[in-house]
Amino acid sequence: MAREYFIAGNWKMFKTADESRQFVQELARSFAPVAGLTVAVFPPFTALASVQGLDPRVHIGAQNMFYEAQGAFTGEISPRMLQGLAEYVLLGHSERREIFHESDRDVNRKLLAALGAGLKPVLCVGETLPERESGQTLEKVLRQLEHGLAGVAGGDWPNVTVAYEPIWAIGTGRNATPGQAQEVHGAIARWLAGKAPGIPVKVLYGGSVKPDNSLELLSQADISGVLVGGASLNVESFSAIIQCGLTLLGA
Ligand code: PGA
Repeated sequence: MAREYFIAGNWKMFKTADESRQFVQELARSFAPVAGLTVAVFPPFTALASVQGLDPRVHIGAQNMFYEAQGAFTGEISPRMLQGLAEYVLLGHSERREIFHESDRDVNRKLLAALGAGLKPVLCVGETLPERESGQTLEKVLRQLEHGLAGVAGGDWPNVTVAYEPIWAIGTGRNATPGQAQEVHGAIARWLAGKAPGIPVKVLYGGSVKPDNSLELLSQADISGVLVGGASLNVESFSAIIQCGLTLLGA
């Protein structure tokens, strides 16, 4: 099967509405659309409206949402509120799990609510450094998949994306080697093949992805894209990463 790449930028709590709009306009000018390449950015909620409809080359996602449809949940955003503003939604990012204490069950409820609302969830999974050092990486990641993706209906699998982000590699400048990443991606691919046979669920790598390591990461057999934090905040470095995808697609 021909390769496809998904290059995503998680902006976290950076960029105002105006900055986001300007960024998306500049980013769209920096690369040519090519079959097999999907580029997406995940701005803060407050910038989602300002980046609407700017350019079909740049897809838009939200960074989180709550699972309830509406109600007395001060400060939360519902799946329905994202409809028309976001195509994708990041769920279970390690910062949500660690800082805001989201459990696997919360993440699963969010994921099913997102699918129900026609949004495409990107489920983030990954191990801590002590878990890696004590040989528990695969156990942790497969458990997060098992819980996070429980109850996904057959027809919904094509709308699911997984992001493997080792927590020790996020924002630390210390990325997994391509071999370490591929080992976990291989295990995730085998797990997904058992749950959704024949459906090519995308699995992104994230954690200190930069222009100088993305070509090698994207070359790994089971890595179908990257989820980029810090290096996605600057048009030059993010488009250099997109360029690696284009190079591997032969464009
Ligand atoms: P980083 O963040 O690229 O800055 O390590 C990745 C992420 O948290 O998604």
